[in-house]
Amino acid sequence: MLRHRNFFVLFSLIALATLMACSSPEPVDEPEPAAAEPAPVAAAPATATAALNGREGSGISGTITFTETAEGASYEAHIDGLSGAGSHGFHIHEIGDCSSEDFKSAGGHFNPAGTVHGGPGDAERHAGDLGNIEVDESGHGSLSGSSELITVGPGPNSVVGRGIILHEGTDDLVSQPTGAAGARLACGVVQADS
Ligand code: CU
Ligand code: ZN
Repeated sequence: MLRHRNFFVLFSLIALATLMACSSPEPVDEPEPAAAEPAPVAAAPATATAALNGREGSGISGTITFTETAEGASYEAHIDGLSGAGSHGFHIHEIGDCSSEDFKSAGGHFNPAGTVHGGPGDAERHAGDLGNIEVDESGHGSLSGSSELITVGPGPNSVVGRGIILHEGTDDLVSQPTGAAGARLACGVVQADS
């Protein structure tokens, strides 16, 4: 009788152990190693360039390059071939058309917001108001800056397809509607770089 009970206890323990083994939670699958993410391809910021040409025989030439930024676009311009030192109004104009001899074909200042003329540091200004290029005795000038009012990518403020004008006189940054910068010495059309 005693042996019989021992056997029963043993059997019960085995049964219990089996039950526990069966009811133990399924082993959790090891998480699949995450597929290696492709290295992000850092797209080069969009750029656009205009080559400026002076009136025939003037010897004036230049370039301006726009580069898309997180808050608009930055720009860098170089002008050569002027006759001497001076401060020359420099703007993005509405129309990318340099076909007329006086470059009036480029229209007025690029002004998608319909605001007033100003300087590059003014809150109220045309998107095209880049201020003045300071030209040295050798006839070379450069200008760099950035603006939240212009873009390289498509949209109402895109500079692509616009005109760039270098003026004979100085932009006073105040006079309406163009800063009284006088005649147009050089013109270029902004084209997207590929
Ligand atoms: Cu202008
Ligand atoms: Zn303006």
